[in-house]
Amino acid sequence: MKTIPFVKPWINEKELQSALQSKFVNSLGQASRQLERDFERTLKVKRAMLVGSCTDALEIAFMSLNLKKTDEVICPSFTFVSTVNSIIKAGGKAVFVDIEPNTLGLNPDKVEKSVNKKTKAIVVVHYGGISAQVEKIKKICIRHKLKLIEDAAQGLFIKDNNRYLGTFGDVGCFSFHHTKNVTCGEGGLLVIPSDGDLITSCEEIRSFGTDKESFLRGEVDKYEWQRIGGSYFMTDVQAALLKTQIDKAAKIQSERKRVYGTYYRNLRELEKIQVEVSRHPISSNFHLFWLVCRSKKERDNLLKVLRKGGIQASFHFLPLHDSPFVRRNPNKFRIMGDMAVTDNVSGRILRLPIFPQLKNKEIDYICSKILAFYKI
Ligand SMILES: Cc1ncc(COP(=O)(O)O)c(C=O)c1O
Repeated sequence: MKTIPFVKPWINEKELQSALQSKFVNSLGQASRQLERDFERTLKVKRAMLVGSCTDALEIAFMSLNLKKTDEVICPSFTFVSTVNSIIKAGGKAVFVDIEPNTLGLNPDKVEKSVNKKTKAIVVVHYGGISAQVEKIKKICIRHKLKLIEDAAQGLFIKDNNRYLGTFGDVGCFSFHHTKNVTCGEGGLLVIPSDGDLITSCEEIRSFGTDKESFLRGEVDKYEWQRIGGSYFMTDVQAALLKTQIDKAAKIQSERKRVYGTYYRNLRELEKIQVEVSRHPISSNFHLFWLVCRSKKERDNLLKVLRKGGIQASFHFLPLHDSPFVRRNPNKFRIMGDMAVTDNVSGRILRLPIFPQLKNKEIDYICSKILAFYKI
């Protein structure tokens, strides 16, 4: 039986070969520099820095805030572990706030109620290529003088109100992991929309905590240890491969839109029996397509049926507030009120395979299994 994978990067032999042509296997070379400038122009940000992963970008972002032990960062629990791991690693305390059912991003009303004197920052996650209520949350940040970090790991090239996700706050973080729309295997991007000290801090953290990047630009005659940092680079070979993906990003997006639309047309009947079907939002990069089943048991049974049929469907985010690490380290966290939407969605969500090369007849096969499960 043929298996339909959950994702499949769309990279051909020619693109791989052209990436290897660069021969500069180190980081901070010509291909990286050029791509960083391209991102700065496209996303309209002051600084774009290629890094090893979105996890790297998040770690740099939180380290740049110089968090103290008592400083708090508001974050969702319905997210990938790196969003919150990076807060703790930077020495802060994470405050979990529930998401809202529409966007599956942070609930702004609950965020506002959770701000106190210790709050230093808020991290917004844009789930599945759909904008969280980032403008409302930005207003809260301005009112309370808080930093806004955007985890746009899944949110490359989507605009909300004419502005790209990841560019609303102080730092934006993106992923080029092989599960993402645009990929170079492992990779990430950190963007800083405005001028200011954060640019120097993030450059130094990326380069071992030194001012190596100022040195490479000829601004200082040697580079020295300035602060705690790491080695958070993307190699030039990866950057060259990523460039080929960026060049065909519009094509990738339009094929994903086809897959998304075909699923939606085939499955929207399920809404009549209270199974939620991914909406067709005005602005999306069509990163994920999901169903929210009526119960956890139903979701788990449907997953089994699909996997038996060779379809690699998947659940998503196990709530972090209920993870073994949080249970073992209660002093590093606060949980604000109940996490009803997080718990509810996490127990019932099911993601379907979505990638540009997925054929309509494969989508029809996947949908026929789902409709047969529901006897529709
Ligand atoms: C919301 C979110 N944040 C962060 C990450 C981490 O990205 P990376 O694998 O590039 O480190 C992911 C990865 O799936 C993610 O979904």
